[in-house]
Amino acid sequence: MPNKVRIAIIGAGAVSDYHHVPGIRIDSRCELVAVCDPNEQLLNQRQKDWGPTKKTTQFEEIAADPDIDAVIIATPNFTHRPIALACIAGGKHVMCEKPLGLNFSESAEMFRAARDKNLRHMTAFTYRFAPSMRYVRHLVKSGALGQPRHFRSQRFLDWPETSWGWRQYKKLAGAGDLFDMTIHRIDFSMDLMGPINAICGAVAQFAKREKTNDGQACAPSEVDDWSSLIGLFANGATGVWEGSTLMKGHHNNGFGYEWAEVNGSEGSAAYQLTDPNNIVIGKHGGTMQKQAVPREFLVIPGSPRNPNDGVPSTVFRYDLVWEFVSAITEGRDCVPGFDHGALAQAVADATLESFEKKTWVNIDAKL
Ligand SMILES: NC(=O)c1ccc[n+]([C@@H]2O[C@H](COP(=O)([O-])OP(=O)(O)OC[C@H]3O[C@@H](n4cnc5c(N)ncnc54)[C@H](O)[C@@H]3O)[C@@H](O)[C@H]2O)c1
Repeated sequence: MPNKVRIAIIGAGAVSDYHHVPGIRIDSRCELVAVCDPNEQLLNQRQKDWGPTKKTTQFEEIAADPDIDAVIIATPNFTHRPIALACIAGGKHVMCEKPLGLNFSESAEMFRAARDKNLRHMTAFTYRFAPSMRYVRHLVKSGALGQPRHFRSQRFLDWPETSWGWRQYKKLAGAGDLFDMTIHRIDFSMDLMGPINAICGAVAQFAKREKTNDGQACAPSEVDDWSSLIGLFANGATGVWEGSTLMKGHHNNGFGYEWAEVNGSEGSAAYQLTDPNNIVIGKHGGTMQKQAVPREFLVIPGSPRNPNDGVPSTVFRYDLVWEFVSAITEGRDCVPGFDHGALAQAVADATLESFEKKTWVNIDAKL
């Protein structure tokens, strides 16, 4: 490999612009060399704005290009599997957006393909990188909260009731809020508490979304606007998760409302997306209080990001690229990998199954 890790972005939409490209820009160990998107107008604009040397509408060209070392896949969910498998076959390290596939079986196949070729694989589970999440994890793992007994998360967004584009069709997205939002919370709960053994889930649709933003008619939504589950962790702890994209009054400049907490035998600690440089913590007999995240948790180890620069709820997302490139240069697994993406997907799949059958579902995911 040459001096710098040469990265291509496949899917030049919102999330690539929001945090993948800024993440590449602050990491001097890598460079953006190509961009791929079938939308030619967007492609031309991104090439101008982002400055990569190559552009193409065909991901197969990226997969076959010997001058590309790694790809970031940020396309609609139904394309993740074919694009990732092609890039893995072409010898590229892959970071892929969540949900990794449309179901556990697709995600597990992606994991095995990357593992068997000894390539780095990473699922873009962004919120694991929030300083407050990393510090809560430290408190849980160091035993500062005692025995973890309970996990709870809520993620509410106040988005429009107009069309959600590709996100509202099962064939293209798999599911709605569950695969878009709650899957992140399933992932970080397992990172904090360990594997989930069984869940009972429910989903609901609140809006038909039959019109686009500019008033054009479109096929109605097929997916959930609300998802919820209760679960039992293998360590004996319990969990409660809830998310929705249609909670009025929770807009908050697009960041919405997010709270996630661990309750242990000695104390409780909570993360909030809107205040990621602080946690809320309390010990037995006390009152939950705000506490600053210690400096060493504000960025991931080695990250050149200045934690005082930018909007705190946005900038921690730049650390994903640092982790991806670190794993490539150090020859170790990325955290979170495709295995974590697949295991979270198994729980999300089980949520749909549970609701359909109106029963608890045991999680028995084998990678
Ligand atoms: N990790 C996070 O926090 C986070 C946040 C937002 C979105 N996402 C995920 O990122 C992915 C993209 O979401 P988005 O909001 O950027 O969507 P988007 O619709 O804004 O962008 C997707 C882009 O992919 C392009 N595309 C479609 N098919 C393609 C193909 N075959 N090859 C190359 N490009 C193709 C589209 O033209 C579009 O420009 C989704 O899987 C979503 O779940 C993750």
